[in-house]
Amino acid sequence: MSPDSINILFIGDLVGSFGRAIFRTLLPGLKKEFAVDLTVLNGENSAHGYSITEKIYNELIENGADAITMGNHIWEKKEIVSKIPALTRMVRPANYPPAAPGPDHLIVEAKGIKVAILNLLGRVFMQCLDCPFQTAEKLVPRLREQTPIILVDLHAEATSEKNAMGFFLDGKVSAVLGTHTHVMTADEKILSEGTAYISDVGMVGAEDSVIGMSKEQIIKRFVTQLPEKFEPTDSGPGLFNAVLIKVDIKTGKALSIERIIRKTPALDLPREEK
Ligand SMILES: [Fe+2]
Ligand SMILES: [Fe+2]
Repeated sequence: MSPDSINILFIGDLVGSFGRAIFRTLLPGLKKEFAVDLTVLNGENSAHGYSITEKIYNELIENGADAITMGNHIWEKKEIVSKIPALTRMVRPANYPPAAPGPDHLIVEAKGIKVAILNLLGRVFMQCLDCPFQTAEKLVPRLREQTPIILVDLHAEATSEKNAMGFFLDGKVSAVLGTHTHVMTADEKILSEGTAYISDVGMVGAEDSVIGMSKEQIIKRFVTQLPEKFEPTDSGPGLFNAVLIKVDIKTGKALSIERIIRKTPALDLPREEK
């Protein structure tokens, strides 16, 4: 491990209790294997597929997450609206209207180095929020006054919007990492000005599922077009998707980005967790 760089593990959308079990099973080994200095995960689906609770936030932090990003499902557990100011290692998407509670960025420390984390929501095939590009243009210079190491979680549907953000922020941030689709893409790269990029990091959840949710329920909804409740799949093998980014601590430029894909044998969760 170079003393001049920092290793950041960024984990894709973690789905439900099954995703949380995969996370706590695999994380200790991955931290050792990759000499991880900072672990960040997207927690927008960690509470039974929708949002997060204070209890689950505490569980994820206790199990090794240093910071949690969110997404379009953030407000679906209503307690988060009042509790988010106290959840000091969690960041909400910055481009919600100004009245949204919670921080529009997060600064955490690893190896005594400040790392800024920015979460943005895309607008293509998603909610009509403030412009993520203008939001980034406003916030990134302020973050750079504090640290050159800046991670951006761009939670968005369209690869074109994610591609564009990567180039828009190339050289200004350390990484632009896509989340939300739950399907890992194979386009990880370092852009020409030193920003690590991937269109989507993927998910942590049941492999035998549609984006972590029951395949039967989702197929039924597609076939019938009738309302159908979606719930996370909680059996079978687990899938863990993440990227490892090595960042130069002086310049903030990314030195490498590597996809990490792990699978677990079928996990047997304690009954109360299901
Ligand atoms: Fe998600
Ligand atoms: Fe999402």
